Amino acid sequence: MAQAVPAAHRRGFLSTLRIDAWWIEPLLVAASLGIFFGWLTISIFLDQWAFEIGPYISPVYEPKLFEAKGSIFISPAMVVLLGPVPFRATCYYYRRAYYRSVFLSPPACAVGDIGKTYKGESGMPLIVQNAHRFFMYVALLFIPILWYGAIKSFWNSDDTIGDTGIGIGLGSVILCLNAFLLMMYTFSCHSLRHFVGGGLDCFSCTKWTQARKRAWDWATLWNMRHRAWAWSSLVVIVFTDVYIRLVANDVISDPNTWGF
Ligand code: FES
Repeated sequence: MAQAVPAAHRRGFLSTLRIDAWWIEPLLVAASLGIFFGWLTISIFLDQWAFEIGPYISPVYEPKLFEAKGSIFISPAMVVLLGPVPFRATCYYYRRAYYRSVFLSPPACAVGDIGKTYKGESGMPLIVQNAHRFFMYVALLFIPILWYGAIKSFWNSDDTIGDTGIGIGLGSVILCLNAFLLMMYTFSCHSLRHFVGGGLDCFSCTKWTQARKRAWDWATLWNMRHRAWAWSSLVVIVFTDVYIRLVANDVISDPNTWGF
């Protein structure tokens, strides 16, 4: 006698045999991506709400291209659109995260896909994701720029606010943490790992390939925690931006040795 096919066996959007709460992760990821990327997008164009004070400047505005002009189309932070934004948007981990949680394709392992067909990243527009390696080259340039901003935060040259000279504040510590996490996010990139150690047939053949093997070992170690670096660096850059803006706009005060 023919048996009815259970609904969960039929192919279809959200059909699954899973009985666990599989939907919690994509829901949390979608909400978090919306909040953190949403804030960063707003922040790029929110140059009328002060983003710098004394030795501190929001990392979203580092390097500051020009003084704020108050246009919603032109912002001193627009340089981040050239490297860090596409770098993060095409990141292997974030692709997995937003394909599942935002595009629902598929929402989770063994859960029915929203799409009827699968084309992968071989056609427009997703073929652009393959440019991740090139965005990585640009993102590497931002690591010294971010460290420059972090180290500069120990020197106040603005004589209109507090004492000038060398010092330290909570903002300096936060900026250093932010630069460190963004550096580790970049150093743990899958493309960087391939860049330093890929395409070799022999690791031990020459001094150069041995050095590349050592770099590859380090990149592999960091790469194993790429998701953790991705989230921690995203949360901390948003926190750093908000913190400096709150200090710069006199909403909270920063404990520091300059006395402002
Ligand atoms: S894979 Fe995530 S930054 Fe390259």
